[in-house]
Amino acid sequence: MNIQVNDFLNSRKKKIEEAMPLFIKDLSTPHSLKESMLYSLEAGGKRLRPVLVLALLHTYNKPEETGIATACAIEMIHTYSLVHDDLPCMDDDDLRRGKPTNHKVFGEAVAVLAGDGLLTQSFSLIVQDPVVTAEKKLRLVAELVKAAGVEGMVGGQVADMEGEAKSLSLEELEFIHENKTAKLLGFSILAGAILADAPEEDIDKLREFSYHLGIAFQIRDDILDIEGNQEKLGKPVGSDTLNEKTTYPSILSMQGAKDKLHDHISQAKNLLQHLSTKAELLEQICDLIAKRDH
Ligand code: FPP
Ligand code: MG
Repeated sequence: MNIQVNDFLNSRKKKIEEAMPLFIKDLSTPHSLKESMLYSLEAGGKRLRPVLVLALLHTYNKPEETGIATACAIEMIHTYSLVHDDLPCMDDDDLRRGKPTNHKVFGEAVAVLAGDGLLTQSFSLIVQDPVVTAEKKLRLVAELVKAAGVEGMVGGQVADMEGEAKSLSLEELEFIHENKTAKLLGFSILAGAILADAPEEDIDKLREFSYHLGIAFQIRDDILDIEGNQEKLGKPVGSDTLNEKTTYPSILSMQGAKDKLHDHISQAKNLLQHLSTKAELLEQICDLIAKRDH
């Protein structure tokens, strides 16, 4: 694996992890709520979504500082979605990123409210950002609502719940994953491109790119639920099979799922060839996503 991409991911992950608590720690709010929000924010994770914002700025040779607040906002939304997803009324999970889930530590009511808090604060991070113009902020917020809201992640989560213990078609499965996973990941890419003043033609291509990358990310997730290692993943393997969920391997067989993963990765990489700038870092991130083990 190319050392440069790993250096980029690790150093930017560290930056994000240093910046995120600063947006929370001075808020005037009950201690329990703050602790619960910080507990999940600081529980680790790959930080792929925020790092993608910075990767886009890097690709367009723009200062990465412009993307820090937006990047942290996305990770806060991602974290809220995991806190809620783990609740007893949803997936009822005890372990996330190798640690007890938020509701196991703080109780269900505080976990629900910590998720609500992370979601609402994330918009504040974007809106209050002193280094981004009002016009760009408006565009970011509008795109984020589409990605994380009813026509994005929230809708995808409901479709996912309703599809449990049912046998879904590939089309239905793709609807779930495009909405539940790919749109928020895609927002990271679009947000980075918007902040970097990328040409509109590039933004259109990057929208398509992020669809392929997001679906590939989810196919890898399904594969890891079967072939992955519990220690590396920080959560139990086999939960999809246990919950009788339709997954890419369950529809296409393991080999079919792997072929589809590689097909989406090559389509994503192909789109990068048509940007107005060289995008080696993004190409390398595509390869990493295809091979990730956690
Ligand atoms: C793992 O991300 C997460 C996903 C593949 C997305 C799952 C989507 C949901 C749980 C949506 C839930 C929505 C609501 C509204 C409750 P990752 O591998 O990047 O995890 P990491 O941050 O731990 O690395
Ligand atoms: Mg779930």
